[in-house]
Amino acid sequence: MDLGFNGKVALVAASSGGLGYATALQLATEGSKVMLTSRSEERLASAAEKIISQSGNTNVAYQVADVSSKDDIGRLCDTVEKTYGGVDILITNAGGPPPGNFESVQEQDWELGFQLSLMSVVRLVQGALPHMKQQRFGRIVHFTSSSIKQPIDNLILSNTFRTAIAGLGKSLAIELAPFNILVNTLGPGRIATDRVAYLDRTAAERQGLDLAEVIRRSEGNIPLGRYGDPEEFASIAAFLASPRNGYVTGQSILVDGGMIRSL
Ligand SMILES: NC(=O)c1ccc[n+]([C@@H]2O[C@H](COP(=O)([O-])OP(=O)(O)OC[C@H]3O[C@@H](n4cnc5c(N)ncnc54)[C@H](OP(=O)(O)O)[C@@H]3O)[C@@H](O)[C@H]2O)c1
Repeated sequence: MDLGFNGKVALVAASSGGLGYATALQLATEGSKVMLTSRSEERLASAAEKIISQSGNTNVAYQVADVSSKDDIGRLCDTVEKTYGGVDILITNAGGPPPGNFESVQEQDWELGFQLSLMSVVRLVQGALPHMKQQRFGRIVHFTSSSIKQPIDNLILSNTFRTAIAGLGKSLAIELAPFNILVNTLGPGRIATDRVAYLDRTAAERQGLDLAEVIRRSEGNIPLGRYGDPEEFASIAAFLASPRNGYVTGQSILVDGGMIRSL
């Protein structure tokens, strides 16, 4: 299926590794111009090199930005405009907020979670919107978590701020539909990335279990019986972000192997 990217400009946040990287690779492979961003120049340079060599698409640029910083996002959006003319496709994403429950999380953790998980999304949309509205085309996909449907133990910050993103995405989908800007929220369940490996190690320490046992129990909760591959997640993201998607907007969709039982 031709997804119709054809030179469209994609800004993929938090894309030196994990889900952001896998999505950037798919978008580049499908013919999009891609701007990568994360906090590490070294990791970005390596990601860009791999994407160019695997996709054969040389329209891959990067800029260092910490998405929890308003100034960094402002500079990033300026660069995309200067380099490519503006953002057609926006993937909002960030590193996960620190784990913890209500009583262990401190005031500064709430502030970090707010800036990193929620305000990064608000500011990236603000930066991308003028061009999208002018073009009367845009696709926005927010990466969140299965916690938008069911809270996850010991991840109170994720549970709080990701549901806010789902609400924001629904409102944006309604407000921006007249401009042919489609907005969806995608929630990964357990996709095998560094973040999930870190959370499994944390759970093993907290529960006094072997890492292998934590993973075995976690996979046991997934009807498909395994963690997902980042490429499997990225394929859904790429479709939602594509011009080919003309009628799915305002949805919160899980890529979780059937893990969450709610309707
Ligand atoms: N994988 C899953 O199954 C799963 C499930 C639920 C939720 N999630 C959430 O989905 C998001 C992506 O997950 P992932 O599994 O891809 O995580 P990951 O493997 O840890 O990758 C995170 C990416 O974000 C970048 N990053 C981290 N903090 C950043 C910041 N402040 N500013 C800019 N970039 C930043 C990292 O690059 P640098 O280190 O180079 O900055 C890296 O490229 C996370 O928020 C995670 O909590 C993932």
